[in-house]
Amino acid sequence: MGIEITGWGKCTPPSILTNKDLETFLDTDDEWIISRTGVKERRIAHTSLGDMGTVAAQHALAAADKDPQDIDAVIMATCTPQYIIPTTASRIQENIGNKHAAAFELNSACTGFVYGLTTAYSLISSGVMKNILLVGGEKVSFFLDWSARDTAVLFGDGAGAVVIEAVDNDSKLYSSKLTCDPFLGDTLKLDNFGSSMEFKDPKDGYFLGIHFEGQEIFKNAVKTMARLAQEALEESNLTVDDIDLCIPHQANLRILEATAKRCNFPMEKMIINLDKYGNTSAGSIPIALTEALDEGKVKPNSKMLFLAFGGGLTGAAAVIDWGSRVTSIKTSDAVLPDSNKTALELVKEISNP
Ligand code: ACO
Repeated sequence: MGIEITGWGKCTPPSILTNKDLETFLDTDDEWIISRTGVKERRIAHTSLGDMGTVAAQHALAAADKDPQDIDAVIMATCTPQYIIPTTASRIQENIGNKHAAAFELNSACTGFVYGLTTAYSLISSGVMKNILLVGGEKVSFFLDWSARDTAVLFGDGAGAVVIEAVDNDSKLYSSKLTCDPFLGDTLKLDNFGSSMEFKDPKDGYFLGIHFEGQEIFKNAVKTMARLAQEALEESNLTVDDIDLCIPHQANLRILEATAKRCNFPMEKMIINLDKYGNTSAGSIPIALTEALDEGKVKPNSKMLFLAFGGGLTGAAAVIDWGSRVTSIKTSDAVLPDSNKTALELVKEISNP
């Protein structure tokens, strides 16, 4: 028995917030943002995380030609859930019309998709399940402090999804390395949420925004991703030359360039789309994967490396064998409900609840 990703899909909300838009309310400029991060624009959601996850999931189910009733688990990787209870995973499950599957959230921040991928492959290889829908996504715009220029320019909303299933060939997860350094947890925080929340005057906004020590995380991200990539390759008995494509977490172009240099990995083999979406945290890898497939960049039987770092501070690297099919079996016309609001209007609503 092998295990393979057989379906893929994304949902990137239509409202685009450009760097020029940010210039209208922040002391920043397009040139600074592009040169320090690589981000040109990002999407702002007018609807819920569950809606975005559902659209991505419907595309993934169609690509795999999978009946939603055959899904044994819906795993939602996110650090910006729609509710604490019921889970966003269960909202997606309801929307796709599945009544019996397991459904749960997995939060390891930006590494969520790779943690989820490893969990899904393990549940299938142990024989507990056969078909898993893994969704990664965030509505991070809701939690940002839109007056803080150091963080507001980096993030965006979006979701991606994959169907992972037991197949009758040799496709597999070669290796997965998942880590967390809890002693660096305070360097990246989205607090005042959950049971430690302090109630504030809603006029001031409920959340304190995302806080991080940018340079500390930058250094740690490069070191951790390079080390985990090397360990995952060694465990797979593969070298950098054997890898056809790397799909990294899309946080900052300079972080990816420094990581590639440290691993001797050619940038041409790295999928990069952060210029269009910014950092969508757990959504970034499945969105980039879907675009790589849509653009014909994934070849049959490609060996692929997924790389990520995130809050915790977590790190993740996984090497997989793609399998032979790189085109969707069916397509879906699922889209988000219409919106007549611009991204700037949506940001204004979040900033002044
Ligand atoms: N526009 C203009 N100037 C800015 C902006 C902005 N948006 N943000 C910061 N600056 C200023 C700073 O105030 C500082 O000014 P000063 O020198 O007068 O004090 C100057 O630019 C340089 O700031 P640095 O923080 O040194 O800039 P740096 O080159 O380190 O880039 C950045 C900052 C982009 C945040 C970088 O450190 C980074 O990407 N770090 C990692 C970010 C991160 O953690 N991403 C992931 C978060 S979530 C996750 O994925 C897990």
